[in-house]
Amino acid sequence: MKRVAILISGTGSNMIKLCESMVGKHPARPVLVISSFSGSGGLTYTRNIGLKTVVVESSLFLGNRFNFEAALTEELTIAKPDIICLAGFMHILSRSFLEKFANKVINIHPSLLPKYKGLNTHKRAISAGDSESGCTVHEVTEELDDGLILGQGKVLIDRNETPDSLAAKVLRLEHILYPLVLKRFVVNDRTKIILSNS
Ligand code: GRF
Repeated sequence: MKRVAILISGTGSNMIKLCESMVGKHPARPVLVISSFSGSGGLTYTRNIGLKTVVVESSLFLGNRFNFEAALTEELTIAKPDIICLAGFMHILSRSFLEKFANKVINIHPSLLPKYKGLNTHKRAISAGDSESGCTVHEVTEELDDGLILGQGKVLIDRNETPDSLAAKVLRLEHILYPLVLKRFVVNDRTKIILSNS
């Protein structure tokens, strides 16, 4: 059974979907959730299901990425994950951190990469007049929102779309895409899948 750690900073809805997917014949199980924010909504869920949960409060490490990553590394070294899923984890990881977990770290991003790396993806897609947007699961490198694309989910942008309505549509697809990609990644399948809700 492969071991999965999930890193979050916020609501944690993708983390919950990933955990819910790893049951029955699924070849992996969640072994650790680390949140960089003690107020993360998802922490109630992990504690309720008895999943090991650690808070590494990023605000206590301001300006000191080295120590922040050292604290993450300490927890991950104990948990020995085969795969580390970033799910709304709002921190860029350094090369030296990623080298310790080479080929194990994947992320979900709310745009059709390589378009709109970084923040405010939905606003940027609407402002650009794009007819579609979506989400991407990719391997993590030291470059922001870069790395091999493992899967994408596409949604149409409606005429009256707002960043909030688009975010909600994309998030629904994230909840389907991320578990699908994880299940394949666990068995070393890195071929790209495309989902479309249109
Ligand atoms: C998702 O849209 C994810 O793509 C982005 O941040 C959001 C996190 O949502 N990186 P949640 O914390 O999983 O609910």
